Amino acid sequence: MHFHILVGTTSGNTEYLADALNERLTALGHSATLHDQPTPKEVFTNSDEPSYWLMCIATHGAGEYAESIVSFMEALATEKPDLQQVQAAIIAVGDSSYDTFCKAGDDAEALILELNARLIAPTLQIDMFNELDPEGSAVQWLDQWISQISE
Ligand SMILES: Cc1cc2nc3c(=O)[nH]c(=O)nc-3n(C[C@H](O)[C@H](O)[C@H](O)COP(=O)(O)O)c2cc1C
Repeated sequence: MHFHILVGTTSGNTEYLADALNERLTALGHSATLHDQPTPKEVFTNSDEPSYWLMCIATHGAGEYAESIVSFMEALATEKPDLQQVQAAIIAVGDSSYDTFCKAGDDAEALILELNARLIAPTLQIDMFNELDPEGSAVQWLDQWISQISE
């Protein structure tokens, strides 16, 4: 199975999570393309085949998308493509000392669902305020659902 890993980062933490997931997918015999500045052109296909997206999105500002994924999310919101083929899993990265904890990940989930994507796993929130092993938690989450969709 091939995954598109879409990274929303401003200061780089989320890149480490994405790298860890990329490694894990490869170790499990899957393949992945890491998009650190995702563009619609790279991840949309015209075929009827499912397209698997792993979105790792940090919240910045007051609940805003992290820099590297802003234009991608804007394109989704304005162009409203049909994401019927998209099967997605989302990691929302944030810090629970903010009122708008993980809002960008939640907003991304709401938007892609509105555009007919399907979630293949419950969205994982990573709280950088007190998470000791973000990469370990992300990989553990991946392991919980990957075998079910690979069958
Ligand atoms: C200026 C600033 C604003 C932030 N705003 C939020 C926020 O509104 N909600 C949240 O959950 N986390 C917020 N965070 C925490 C970031 O999501 C957290 O530091 C994360 O690890 C950043 O990921 P990145 O290094 O991949 O950009 C903020 C961090 C900074 C520096």
